[in-house]
Amino acid sequence: MIKTAILTISDKGSRGERVDETGQVLKKLLQKEDYKKDNYQVEYYKVIPDEIDIISDELIKLCDEGKVNLIITNGGTGFSKRDVTPEATKEVIEKYVPGFGEAMRAGSLAITPKAVLSRGIAGIRKDTLIINLPGSPKAAVENLEVVLPAIPHGIEILLGQASECAR
Ligand code: MTE
Repeated sequence: MIKTAILTISDKGSRGERVDETGQVLKKLLQKEDYKKDNYQVEYYKVIPDEIDIISDELIKLCDEGKVNLIITNGGTGFSKRDVTPEATKEVIEKYVPGFGEAMRAGSLAITPKAVLSRGIAGIRKDTLIINLPGSPKAAVENLEVVLPAIPHGIEILLGQASECAR
């Protein structure tokens, strides 16, 4: 079982001025037949504003309470002055995992040249992997689909449940 949190980062969403479609779409994606074997359980979901301290506090709380092993953020990865999700993530991670951003942008570039506008990163704090996705439902799904096949094995290794990569 992969205990998962979905964090939507949106000023408008947090003020109730926009329905959070992306968070719900991501939840549905994890429950799709293709990923049933990985047994993602979304145990936590919240919409928070684009405020660096609020985002980093939320990430620290989720990682340090040890209740989830995967945090998927969406939103706040672009060029807007309010976009600070990667900066908040950078502040709290102990290990940077560059392959996720590299793979998501490479995979997304086959779909749109605008993929380079997402500054999303990924990293590890304690027993939790944090991944930043862009905020639109389409972009979030396209990015997550690129890395989903690698996540279960990564988390197994992180939790000491697998030590070697199968050849
Ligand atoms: N990646 C994919 N796969 N598909 C997309 O449509 N949109 C891009 C980019 N990544 C997109 C994508 C755009 S237009 C932006 S501005 C950035 O993600 C940042 O999005 P965010 O500010 O909502 O986080």
